Amino acid sequence: MRAVAIRRGSDEPELIEKPRPEPADGEALVRTLRVGVDGTDHEVLSGSHGGFPEGEDHMVLGHEAVGRVEDPNGTGLEAGQLVVPTVRRKPDGETNEYFRRGEPDMAPDGAYHERGIVGDHGYMSECFTSPADFLVPIPEALARHGVFVEPLSNTEKALEHARASRSAFEWNPESAAVLGNGPLGLLTLWQLTQEFDRTYCLGRRDRPDPTLEFIDEVGATYVDSRETPVDEIPDEYEALDFVYEATGYAPHAFQTIRALAPNGVGALLGIPDSWEFEVDGGQLHNDLVLHNKCILGSVNAGVRHFEGAAETVSAMPEDLLDHLITTVTDPEDVAPAFEDGDDQIKAVVEFESP
Ligand code: NAP
Ligand code: BGC
Ligand code: ZN
Repeated sequence: MRAVAIRRGSDEPELIEKPRPEPADGEALVRTLRVGVDGTDHEVLSGSHGGFPEGEDHMVLGHEAVGRVEDPNGTGLEAGQLVVPTVRRKPDGETNEYFRRGEPDMAPDGAYHERGIVGDHGYMSECFTSPADFLVPIPEALARHGVFVEPLSNTEKALEHARASRSAFEWNPESAAVLGNGPLGLLTLWQLTQEFDRTYCLGRRDRPDPTLEFIDEVGATYVDSRETPVDEIPDEYEALDFVYEATGYAPHAFQTIRALAPNGVGALLGIPDSWEFEVDGGQLHNDLVLHNKCILGSVNAGVRHFEGAAETVSAMPEDLLDHLITTVTDPEDVAPAFEDGDDQIKAVVEFESP
């Protein structure tokens, strides 16, 4: 079968041939429809994040997939059922409390593989196998847009943790900002517009730009970080009850503390490289304590977050989802899906028409 992979020593995706996988006991075989590309895939290609499966000279890319069950293999899934696979898997031979509890997203570094990211092949191939427990059934209507379920599952988890952190008192948030106008930021922005009275989205682009059009369309306010750095948002606009960081720009983690209103919470999702810079640690510490602020990190997602994300994608207007898909490409000609220009929001590689 055809697969799109990265080889050791290369930073370019490549079309390769691989044997079709056979489902083991408890696994189903899935025919891939579409696989999305995100900032993490670019980090995997550049070598700044993730790692190859042990003993392999390549890794099949892709962790944002939607497919159809080809062979349920006695798992209880139905042939033809539309599914989205989760990302984390238990490394072979490990007993692992996080997976046993159904919380692989809480496992520490090293206690998991991530398909298409670290230690295990991804989904960018004609078919793939997976334990049925990690295949989340989604409605048939999501065949075209099912690639948005995985990224939004990460948001679903981050929001759950942010709310939990504020659950000890009466928290009535009104304002929220997303830092970053990449695909994760824009999807999340739409979700936040459904919950918050006032929403903002930070970028560093000039108009005309398709991501800024999206921000306008959903009724949020664009904040240009070149004019208003994150820690000056309260001076220019208002202090924020919730901040969702999706830039991977490390200073934003610290500037978020100042951007928050008293009792506010900031969720960090970006995955930056090592970067040393100066901050006023005393002032940040003081601000966090005296204003009951919270900063949390959040990564990956569990099955219930995928289910919640499927509901969010189902509720999102089709024209907005279409606005986000800027490239649909064939595995034979995969390069356009990995181009990273300002016209690109979400690129998908299509193995079979949905
Ligand atoms: P992306 O396509 O790289 O998007 C990042 C966006 O942030 C870009 O639009 C970029 O703008 C903008 N940005 C970067 N620095 C900025 C600055 N200083 N001021 C204003 N805007 C800035 O990535 P993505 O797929 O949306 O994902 C976002 C980040 O979250 C990545 O680091 C990714 O690895 C991470 N991620 C984490 C999780 C998790 O579970 N924690 C899940 C998915 C993704 P330009 O394009 O104009 O440069
Ligand atoms: C993926 C998550 C993964 C994270 C860190 C994100 O792009 O969507 O599933 O846990 O990267 O590797
Ligand atoms: Zn991702």
